[in-house]
Amino acid sequence: MASLLRLGTEKLVKPDARHARLLPIARWPSREEAAAMRWFQPLSIGRLHLETRTWIPAMVPWRASEEGYVTPEVLAWYRRFAEGQPGALVVEATGIRDVPSGPLLRIGDDRFIEGLSALVGAVREASGGHTRLFIQLIDFLRIRRRPPRDVFLRRFLAVDETLRSRLPSELAGLDEHSLREALVAASEESLRQWLPPRELEALRMGYRERVTDLHLPHIRDLPRALPTLFADAAARAKEAGFDGVELHYAHAYTMASFLSARNTRPDGYGGDREARARLPLEVYEAVRDRVGDYVVGVRFLGDEVIEGGSDLADAAYFARRFAEAGFDFLSLSKGGKFEDAKQPRVGEAAYPYTGPSGHECMPTVRIAPPGPFGRNVPLAASIRRSLRAAGLEVPVVTAGGICSPWQAEAILERGDADIVAAARQTLADPDWFRKIRLGRGTEVRRCYFTNYCEGLDQKHKAVTCQRWDRDFDSPDPTGLRSKDGKRRLVAPPDPGARCITAAPAQSSETS
Ligand SMILES: Cc1cc2nc3c(=O)[nH]c(=O)nc-3n(C[C@H](O)[C@H](O)[C@H](O)COP(=O)(O)O)c2cc1C
Ligand code: SF4
Repeated sequence: MASLLRLGTEKLVKPDARHARLLPIARWPSREEAAAMRWFQPLSIGRLHLETRTWIPAMVPWRASEEGYVTPEVLAWYRRFAEGQPGALVVEATGIRDVPSGPLLRIGDDRFIEGLSALVGAVREASGGHTRLFIQLIDFLRIRRRPPRDVFLRRFLAVDETLRSRLPSELAGLDEHSLREALVAASEESLRQWLPPRELEALRMGYRERVTDLHLPHIRDLPRALPTLFADAAARAKEAGFDGVELHYAHAYTMASFLSARNTRPDGYGGDREARARLPLEVYEAVRDRVGDYVVGVRFLGDEVIEGGSDLADAAYFARRFAEAGFDFLSLSKGGKFEDAKQPRVGEAAYPYTGPSGHECMPTVRIAPPGPFGRNVPLAASIRRSLRAAGLEVPVVTAGGICSPWQAEAILERGDADIVAAARQTLADPDWFRKIRLGRGTEVRRCYFTNYCEGLDQKHKAVTCQRWDRDFDSPDPTGLRSKDGKRRLVAPPDPGARCITAAPAQSSETS
């Protein structure tokens, strides 16, 4: 038996390096202890009352329709999280433009409101009204799949003066067709020397737009277009009945790219910190003007963790500006950038969680010391300290490798954050908050932090947890399955769920 490891009351599994490094929980809290824990105490954010400081951050599950509508699978996904009664649940990154973006939720037109209202209703019902519901609003720039080498060189490579000026004389004067064929026949090393850096990147990684591509009119125009797009989307979220919105200023997407120290736009929206924060603040003002006294929060990076990127000092500056502007909460994340992503396979798009910065964003048990557990908390702690020193009281949310109530308790006790979020642990067991509050912590199905779920996200496949299928022999009442029929799409039910709700219902507003 010594070679086996017990995880809660679940069946014994053979340990390997990853299981052995699971955060130890010597003892789960009793119901009485849990009732006294800071994590389960209320908090106000803006005009809202959170019943507890537990939080599920945004997770894209790839369950929307190809047209971006809410589907029965989307409803089942959020209903299941709501059953665990977190203080707050943030709906996945939802596109603010009315453009096709695969099975990602969209909010770029009024026709999406009906489905989103149904989602709000499902969460209210499943949580018994105990969970506040936010939706994350995202804008992203164009990214193409990595092309086959010959297709790129024959069709997509720009044959212009810039390219010709880099070529040896015997190639520089060739007509376009002959030149393309010569490049197809050239060695990798030659291409590396001859192609301009962006063309070389498009060949190796797939073409990707940047906020600094001012030669493209729609990129030049982002500061004029985005405030209205975000404000319209926020107004739709309000109409659909969400308790608030979270503006996605984190990871690899448009607004994070404006905040990035790599943003060198010369038009007043790039360069120093103040200029980089300008559009994010203008977007906030437009949203606030449109939605009035409504919860508007932001998720952004405590550190981009890429060469030449923004760091903690930048983030502390942005946090102060965001708090002064009036954001109702600041949710901190880390990394998740395209700049250091791994080369995708031909036919696939780069994925921003494959490089070192991506590993910081969703850390696994394979990450360097000190390991994944609470890895990103010091960023939130430092930012919260500087906010409080400036007299700014905005709530700060932290996430990253949180998987035990004592861990959350210590974070809150130290004043490192006001709200402690858990994404993957809650994916592994959506009931875990409720189980802990009921003194049933030994029944928590624990996350392995090995990122099977993130691998599915990378392939834009329906995200599920390996533990739902592999070591949990239980009924599947929803009958919802992945396309190949092999994976359940909803976490197994909690056998002890017929007991009780864990908290009394309270009104959603403090004023
Ligand atoms: C499948 C998956 C999808 C995610 N999608 C989003 C997203 O839409 N927006 C976002 O800000 N973060 C997203 N994240 C990051 C999480 O919100 C969270 O910050 C990260 O997983 C670290 O927290 P954890 O250790 O508790 O999982 C996603 C994470 C996973 C695993
Ligand atoms: S698949 Fe499940 S156990 Fe593995 S990291 Fe994701 S949530 Fe955790």
